Order: sequence, then structure tokens, then C-alpha cells
Amino acid sequence: MGSEPSPPQLLPPPLPLRTERLVLRTVVASDREAIGDYCAKPEVTRYLPFPALDDEGLTKRLDRLVAATAPSTVGEFLALAVEFDGVLVGDLMLRFSARHGDDAPPSIAELGWVFAPEYAGRGFATESARALIDLAFGHYPLHRVMAQLDPRNVASAALCERLGMRHEAHTREDFADRDGTWGDTAVYGLLRREWAAL
Ligand SMILES: CC(C)(COP(=O)(O)OP(=O)(O)OC[C@H]1O[C@@H](n2cnc3c(N)ncnc32)[C@H](O)[C@@H]1OP(=O)(O)O)[C@@H](O)C(=O)NCCC(=O)NCCS
Repeated sequence: MGSEPSPPQLLPPPLPLRTERLVLRTVVASDREAIGDYCAKPEVTRYLPFPALDDEGLTKRLDRLVAATAPSTVGEFLALAVEFDGVLVGDLMLRFSARHGDDAPPSIAELGWVFAPEYAGRGFATESARALIDLAFGHYPLHRVMAQLDPRNVASAALCERLGMRHEAHTREDFADRDGTWGDTAVYGLLRREWAAL
């Protein structure tokens, strides 16, 4: 009996990552209060794929984030807590979304970010997402990272621009917004060779 070829195993990421001001580490159960605080705010979740979290929603989200430590295949993701001065100020995600070839490792990943409004406007999202992109291309064998967002989310679009991502597409009315209207999507992308030239 022949066995199916399995994709090469990806090594777990070398965490924590340290930047000039921040520490990026895996999410742990005791982050519940800090993450719950900003994820309960409707202005924070306005453009996220989930509404402001109640206790039950927070439990589900936290369980997912805590488990997301070593993605290896499409559909899995890495979740990172971002700490400034020992305080959790936000969280980041890198989700493998595609691969090219049955026995190939993931080649495309999607970025995500959520920060506490009290820590906005200080470049923390930029600094930490830059480190995550470095991990995406430096540790993982990715060819492309991308972000998709509601174009009305100007803070997120500006973050993509600061990260050197290119605005690649604007698709019209392609998702049902929570407010009962059709929303647009903006796609930003960064290729490995562009990252290497940043
Ligand atoms: C998207 C989000 C992470 C962006 O946060 P942010 O605070 O705007 O981004 P940064 O932390 O990188 O800060 C950038 C700001 O700090 C300023 N800044 C100060 N020091 C800086 C530094 N060292 N480096 C970069 N920017 C710096 C920038 O000029 C910019 O100011 P501006 O907003 O007046 O232009 C935040 O709005 C958020 O969490 N939103 C809710 C969740 C969400 O919508 N997620 C995305 C779903 S697609």
C-alpha cells in the first residue's frame, strides 16, 4: 500500500520576537482580560469579522488564539500577543490561506491586527506587523502575504501602506455587512521579492 505524500513539516516560529519597543509572543489564557477589554468595544470590532465580544464569544476567541501557536497547513494560523512595557496592547494573526501543489508548504498567508484604542497612534501596529511580515518571509517559505479589509477602515488601509503593501484590488459589494448593507473589500499584497527590497 502506497502512502499519500505529506507536505514538509514547518518548524514552530522562534518566539518571542523582540522589536525596538515590543515583544511578540504566543497568546496565553491569562490574556483574557486584556483581549476581552478591547474586543468588547464596538468601535474596535466594527470592521472585524465578529461583533463586540460577550463573555461566551471571548471564551471561543481566546481558545482559538491560545491554540494558534504553530500553524503548519492551509487554514491554520499563528496568533501573537503584542506587549509594550509588559502590557498586552494588541494581537496579530498570520493565517495560511493557500498552497500550490499537494505536497507543497503554504505559499500565501493573510495578515490580521487588532489593537487597544488606548495604544493607537504610536506606531505599535506598524512595528509589530513589520516583525510578523519578517517572520512570514524569513521563517516561513511564503511567496506572498496579503490583507483584506473594508475600505472604510482607513486606519487599517494606512497601516498596509506603511508596511509597504500594494493596494491591488477593490472589489464591490462582495460581503454582507453586519449592518444589513453590502460592503466592499480592499486587497493589499506584498510579495517575497518586494519584502526583500524594502
Ligand atoms: C488597524 C489598527 C491596528 C491601526 O492602528 P494605528 O494606531 O492606526 O496604527 P499604528 O499603531 O501603526 O500607529 C500609526 C499612527 O501612529 C503614528 N506613529 C507615531 N510613532 C510612530 C512610529 N514609530 N511608527 C509608525 N507610526 C508612528 C503614525 O503617524 C500614525 O499616526 P496617524 O494615525 O495620525 O496617521 C487599529 O486601528 C485597530 O486595531 N483597529 C481595530 C481593529 C481592526 O479594524 N483591524 C483590522 C481589520 S481589517
